[in-house]
Amino acid sequence: MDLGLKDKVALVTGASTGIGFSICEELAAHGVHLVMVARTSSRLEDAANELTRRYGITTFPLAGDVADADFPRQVVQQSGSHFPGIDLLVNNAGRAHTGTLLTTSDEDWEAMTATKFTAMRRFCREVIPGMQQRGWGRIVNISSIGGLYPNPPLTVSHALSAAINNLTRSIALDVAPLGILVNAIGVGAVATENWAKNMLPNVRLRRPELAGKTDQEIMAILGKEKTPVGRFGRPEDIAAIAAFLLSARNQFVTGHTVEASGGADRFM
Ligand SMILES: NC(=O)c1ccc[n+]([C@@H]2O[C@H](COP(=O)([O-])OP(=O)(O)OC[C@H]3O[C@@H](n4cnc5c(N)ncnc54)[C@H](OP(=O)(O)O)[C@@H]3O)[C@@H](O)[C@H]2O)c1
Repeated sequence: MDLGLKDKVALVTGASTGIGFSICEELAAHGVHLVMVARTSSRLEDAANELTRRYGITTFPLAGDVADADFPRQVVQQSGSHFPGIDLLVNNAGRAHTGTLLTTSDEDWEAMTATKFTAMRRFCREVIPGMQQRGWGRIVNISSIGGLYPNPPLTVSHALSAAINNLTRSIALDVAPLGILVNAIGVGAVATENWAKNMLPNVRLRRPELAGKTDQEIMAILGKEKTPVGRFGRPEDIAAIAAFLLSARNQFVTGHTVEASGGADRFM
């Protein structure tokens, strides 16, 4: 399917690995040029070089922490020396945090809020004026299935996901007349470094019978047990949905949170 994306420019946060890299790859395959953001510059540059080599697109990797207050403004400003404007924005940077209300510190609440929610708000605010001038834009905010179906062991992540879904809809309704469509994806369990690092230790604690199994074995078991489609998610599952929402083929979906979890509402 021609998504009508050739030579558009996308800004993707959390672009060096996992879901963010997979979205970059899907967009690159459709001829989209990329501004790629993550903290670890060596890995980010390797990811950008790989996509340029494989798809012949232009990439501009910019290393930094999305939680830094001025970083979103700097990214959009510096992108201006490489590209005429940002047509597509994907707010993806972040990670899962395990903990209930009683076991999560104020510091963790604040750090998670800065990375997942505040950064998203700032990146949207920075790119929308340019989209408005060009009369076209698409934004996808990466949320989690827990924004719709909260689960206490992931209280912070899920509360922020609900806030992201709500913010997505407010922005969408505001900018729809300007030719800009804004949606969220409520991601279920997807096999990434983030899941292995932040979720598996907790699964091993709660399910001692799984403690001796490899990461892959546990994800395969959980995929079968908890997911109606019978398997764990893959980054490409999310990238395919993002590409449609970001595309010129999407003319009528806005303010929506797409459930992308294989039908599951929780994994722990
Ligand atoms: N995987 C899942 O099952 C799942 C489920 C629901 C929601 N999500 C959400 O999906 C998004 C992507 O998750 P993932 O599983 O693909 O994670 P991942 O594999 O760990 O990748 C995260 C990416 O974000 C970057 N990043 C993290 N914190 C950042 C920061 N403060 N500033 C800039 N870049 C940052 C990482 O690079 P650096 O570390 O070098 O910065 C990396 O490129 C996250 O927001 C996560 O909460 C994932």
